[in-house]
Amino acid sequence: MISFLSAVRVGVRSHALVADYRSISTAKIPKKKEKQKAKVAVAALLKKEKRRTRSDREFEQIDSVRDQPHVPVMLGEVTDVFSKPICSFVDCTLGAAGHSSAIIESHPELRVFVGMDVDPLAYDVACSRIHALSNSHARSDLKVCTFLKNFKHIKSVLSEVDQSILNSGVDGMLMDLGMSSMQVNNPQRGFSVLGNGPLDMRMDPQASLKAEDILNSWPDTEVGRVLRDYGEESNWKLLQNKILKARLHGGLHSTSELVDLIRDMTPARRGGRQGWIKTATRVFQALRIAVNDELKTLEDSLRACFDCLAPGGRLAVISFHSLEDRIVKQTFLKIIECNKEYGDRDDEERGSRNLQKKGSDSDEKEAWIRQSLQGLNGTILTKRPITPSEEEEKLNSRCRSAKLRVIQKA
Ligand SMILES: C[S@@+](CC[C@H](N)C(=O)[O-])C[C@H]1O[C@@H](n2cnc3c(N)ncnc32)[C@H](O)[C@@H]1O
Repeated sequence: MISFLSAVRVGVRSHALVADYRSISTAKIPKKKEKQKAKVAVAALLKKEKRRTRSDREFEQIDSVRDQPHVPVMLGEVTDVFSKPICSFVDCTLGAAGHSSAIIESHPELRVFVGMDVDPLAYDVACSRIHALSNSHARSDLKVCTFLKNFKHIKSVLSEVDQSILNSGVDGMLMDLGMSSMQVNNPQRGFSVLGNGPLDMRMDPQASLKAEDILNSWPDTEVGRVLRDYGEESNWKLLQNKILKARLHGGLHSTSELVDLIRDMTPARRGGRQGWIKTATRVFQALRIAVNDELKTLEDSLRACFDCLAPGGRLAVISFHSLEDRIVKQTFLKIIECNKEYGDRDDEERGSRNLQKKGSDSDEKEAWIRQSLQGLNGTILTKRPITPSEEEEKLNSRCRSAKLRVIQKA
């Protein structure tokens, strides 16, 4: 058996940690302080594990997906969410169309597919893939409509597709937030901490605001607010001052200039390379959120998407950082109008019972639904978010922070 301390170091799953923790009395612990530190680390891990539901779905690396410019996250879990027959589906974030292709392939009954993306490069990749797919499968009965648009325009997009679909509602919707590998891997987009490029960070290259505008001309308090609120960066004040100082020497114009500034101000004792990379990742995240107005857009769009669902229709959202996930969690709660506090046991049990009752005529409760929460307007099918399986995490490090939440309209 591995030792208690090494278990903490390698970050083994919580049950293994508990087992090790119980055998601690017989293990040899070098120092009292270290033992205390390890205890705290175990407690934190256990707490984290409790608040999420790791997917136990078998991870299948589908060949057609492996060679794509972006590997879709939790593909099997997403197809499970939409395993019942659907007539209409909207992918709000096409990317390289990995999720969309799987949905189209697994639903021959699908009649309307709508896809959106703000990024023209992603849009082109997705369109050619989806059109090739529908042609190769001779899906002449499938209406495919794609839009180079922000998902905040979901209602006008659907009315453009067909006013009747807006009235009757959509059966399935997906938002896979954040960036695609196509965006991160292209240094010219400015999203990457490790590759040098312009300080751009726009998802939509037609938008006017770039990261360098924020860094070089926004008021100091606004720069600080972005770093603090969107990056959750504890050193935001020092960073803000360094950025203002850089303005006196012509400002910051490339990602490597910004990274150098961060590296220079991160003391070596704060984790060396890992330390400054973590800070840089938080700063890049903060700027990207501000440039693309991501949080406000997300909150508004979640409501708009829910409005567009048919009764029984589902909206699945994959988020990649805690700010996004908090918005999804809280907005879902507000949408369903669940009066009791999140986590109420009776609600949870009642929710599961009702789901079973609702589905009992035609089918069983779906295996992927663990705990749900029912409100007046709908049901949250993921009381705790689903996170990728260990196998997927091993094969695709970019999925590590992903969380999937699903809501179903009453
Ligand atoms: C993680 S990728 C999606 C990957 C996709 N699910 C797949 O399987 O290939 C996210 C995509 O959402 C797009 N995006 C981000 N914010 C958006 C918004 N507000 N409206 C429309 N698309 C957006 C990005 O341009 C990016 O292509």
